[in-house]
Amino acid sequence: MRLGSVALVGAGPGDPGLMTVRGLALLRDAEVVVYDRLVDPRLLREAPRARHVFAGKASGDHALPQERINALLVMHAKRGRSVVRLKGGDPFVFGRGGEEAEALAAAGVPFEIVPGVSSAVAAPAYAGIPLTHRGVASSFAVVTGHEGCGKARAGVDWARLATAVDTLVVLMGVAALPRIARELIAHGRAPHTPVALVRWGTTDWQTVLTGRLDDVAARARAARLEPPVVIVIGEVVALAERLAWFRPERAMEHALG
Ligand SMILES: C[S@@+](CC[C@H](N)C(=O)[O-])C[C@H]1O[C@@H](n2cnc3c(N)ncnc32)[C@H](O)[C@@H]1O
Repeated sequence: MRLGSVALVGAGPGDPGLMTVRGLALLRDAEVVVYDRLVDPRLLREAPRARHVFAGKASGDHALPQERINALLVMHAKRGRSVVRLKGGDPFVFGRGGEEAEALAAAGVPFEIVPGVSSAVAAPAYAGIPLTHRGVASSFAVVTGHEGCGKARAGVDWARLATAVDTLVVLMGVAALPRIARELIAHGRAPHTPVALVRWGTTDWQTVLTGRLDDVAARARAARLEPPVVIVIGEVVALAERLAWFRPERAMEHALG
């Protein structure tokens, strides 16, 4: 039987217009689409004849365990199908795309990676926050704030990060925000550093909550903020006052009551 193939495709951060041309072409040709929770349903309509498989993943709620997803991709490809594994943002930025690629390589299944626009850069951009800015920030780091993940936690050295880069972008950090803010301040980051919490960035539901490192956790708690949120920490956040350009319709309607 003819061997199929798998494309690990970044769906972008939410706004379906941010999907790449290459990703869209593969999606339209796909026979099987395995997709994640954060993928906009409008993208799935681009593959009306394909079999759609929901692979899950809200925080703490895995619709399909990672090993099952890997096995599913291998199984469909071995049955000769063109598979698109559609993942939120970029597949290789906290997307476990590396693990899926490893499983495909081990099984001898041909695969390609189509990068996507990561929420790490897109959510700040839609909030009017440049991650670098001449005279303000010349470096940024993207890290996970997920506490439940042992390896990831060990991998984020908050003490060193506190002053090592100008702008910090934290994904999956809402639950750990009080600890993150405390650690950064304890290790030398100014308590008055501006912080933005961009929720559902690039979508019609985008909201932006701002504060300072020493009060943003309390603000987030008061607002009962829930994921998905990109946290941006650094002086560049102040630029949003002049550069915020995106006016999501539904958030506006909501604000207007
Ligand atoms: C498992 S990670 C996947 C990241 C993804 N691969 C990427 O490149 O954007 C999920 C986290 O990404 C962030 N995220 C993804 N989409 C988002 C969006 N539209 N708005 C805000 N945060 C988002 C949140 O921090 C969320 O908890």
